[in-house]
Amino acid sequence: MCGIVGYVGNREASPLLIEGLSKLEYRGYDSAGVAILNDGKIKIEKCKGRLKNLENKLEEFPIEGGVGIGHTRWATHGEPSDVNSHPHFNKDKSIAVVHNGIIENYIYLKEWLGSLGYEFLTETDTEVVAHLVDHFYNGDIVKAVADAVEKIEGSYALGVVSKNEPEKLVAIRKDSPLIVGLGEDENFIASDIPAILSQTRKVYLLEDKELVVLTKEGVTITTLEGMPVTKEVFNVTWDAEAAEKGGYEHFMIKEIHEQPKAIKDTMTSRIMADSDEIKLDDINLTKEDLKNIDKIFIVACGTAYHAGMVGKYVIEKLARIPVEVDIASEFRYRNPILNERTLMIVVSQSGETADTMAALREAKKQGSRVIAVTNVVGSSAAREADDILYTWAGPEIAVASTKAYTTQLIAMYIIGLYLARLNDKMSVEEYRVIRDEMLALPAKVETLLENKETLQRFADANKNNDDIFYLGRGLDNAVALEGALKLKEISYIHAEAYAAGELKHGPIALIDDGIPVIALATQEELFDKMVSNIREVVTRGAKVLSIACEGSTAIETVSDAVEYIPRAIDLLTPVLSVIPLQLLSYYVSIARGCDVDKPRNLAKSVTVE
Ligand code: G6P
Repeated sequence: MCGIVGYVGNREASPLLIEGLSKLEYRGYDSAGVAILNDGKIKIEKCKGRLKNLENKLEEFPIEGGVGIGHTRWATHGEPSDVNSHPHFNKDKSIAVVHNGIIENYIYLKEWLGSLGYEFLTETDTEVVAHLVDHFYNGDIVKAVADAVEKIEGSYALGVVSKNEPEKLVAIRKDSPLIVGLGEDENFIASDIPAILSQTRKVYLLEDKELVVLTKEGVTITTLEGMPVTKEVFNVTWDAEAAEKGGYEHFMIKEIHEQPKAIKDTMTSRIMADSDEIKLDDINLTKEDLKNIDKIFIVACGTAYHAGMVGKYVIEKLARIPVEVDIASEFRYRNPILNERTLMIVVSQSGETADTMAALREAKKQGSRVIAVTNVVGSSAAREADDILYTWAGPEIAVASTKAYTTQLIAMYIIGLYLARLNDKMSVEEYRVIRDEMLALPAKVETLLENKETLQRFADANKNNDDIFYLGRGLDNAVALEGALKLKEISYIHAEAYAAGELKHGPIALIDDGIPVIALATQEELFDKMVSNIREVVTRGAKVLSIACEGSTAIETVSDAVEYIPRAIDLLTPVLSVIPLQLLSYYVSIARGCDVDKPRNLAKSVTVE
């Protein structure tokens, strides 16, 4: 996720911006830049790559000045490059803008501004903001920003400077974080508290659409209509490390809580409540292309593979095309049958996993078309695939994948719906039902995140067990596998997931007095069969925690504890049922004193075979 820092004061802005940006590095980024008011002009220095590159440039070509904005970019629109890096200028370089978030209507705004004569130099959504502010500028930068944001749909945190009003820094946010730091004869903005913690501990926590004007003398906050807003100063008492995690104890729990937003972002501008169209900018598959495809392979590793398992169910059910899911490290050594009638979907958070890339290359070599589902713009998978669907989860820092997984699930649904519509296998009415249910998911995930007591209690009671079993049928089986993987990864407890119907063919021999079993029973069609399977383990002494949909109270008769998830159509429950499993793993891990974010022997990105 992008990071923003801004400064107005008597000191040199440049080193303060760099120091602030360095404290935001944990958010992940692929390029960095600053804009500083210098001698009646705005000077920008920006480049792709590490912050150190920018620092070196600024050492070679220093920019003096006491007002500036800085940015670390995590690419969403347009690959990581010098030109796509922020800040962005308006046409006469009198206004510079940094932005974090996604401008949902940027294509419309770009066309409109283009018709007014504005030229675009970058592929970013942010550049429209610079031109939009320019369009509304009439001698008052604050009003111009207020008018510009009225036109913007989506999420944003903005820092804006103008050479015509060189003493001011204007900032505003909506659905993206931004705070103000208060100093003596100097003031700051930042995406997050760590960026300014070494300078001040006094901050304003901004609410959506509060318009902030910073000068070195003070900070004024108004509504967009100009009504003054009074705010209490928040005194930061956390240490720097805690501040980086936004007050959460670990990145993993922070990322678990980021899921409502990540899911929403991944759906943004692709499926919309007021449109029956699915808009996928980077997938160019036509009806004709799809007619020639008779088989789909989904290939991935780890958690992404589990998302692929859900993808198989979804695509087969909706688009009626046969799908095989493969573990990437197995795929290429089994002499797979690939040809130009095959479509491969690779799923990879990083877009760099060696085995997944090898599978992608093999498919291309055999003439198959490849869609990459990845979280990293410009990654190898994105560069080498024919089509791309980015998950917009933002960077994932914890090794155990959480928000990347749920956004990969969303990507699977989007692809399933897209193929089904293209394939004429789904009516508009059917599409609307699923779309509307999908759009309701972020709020349902939010509710789930508020209910942790049952899971904490279960984690505490079972933290010393050597084995835990996970059971599910259908889509619940795919989620059970992900739940078991999560627990293994971060708590080092042996966790095993089984298709519940397969239980009696072997694994039931392991069920004994007191063995914890997590049973997923969210699939309405399979509910009764699942209850019977649970009964089989209860009879043999298992302690069962069931995950079921609200209202499925029959489950209580066979469970020691039940975690209910909000009702959703069967197809979509994986997005909900995985949340308690992530939380359970997290609580078991901390109860056992494990290193949650950096579990032993594991790496976030595996770029060797
Ligand atoms: C590693 C990570 C997993 C991840 C897997 C695939 O093992 O620890 O969390 O699921 O790689 O990574 P990818 O970036 O391809 O999704």
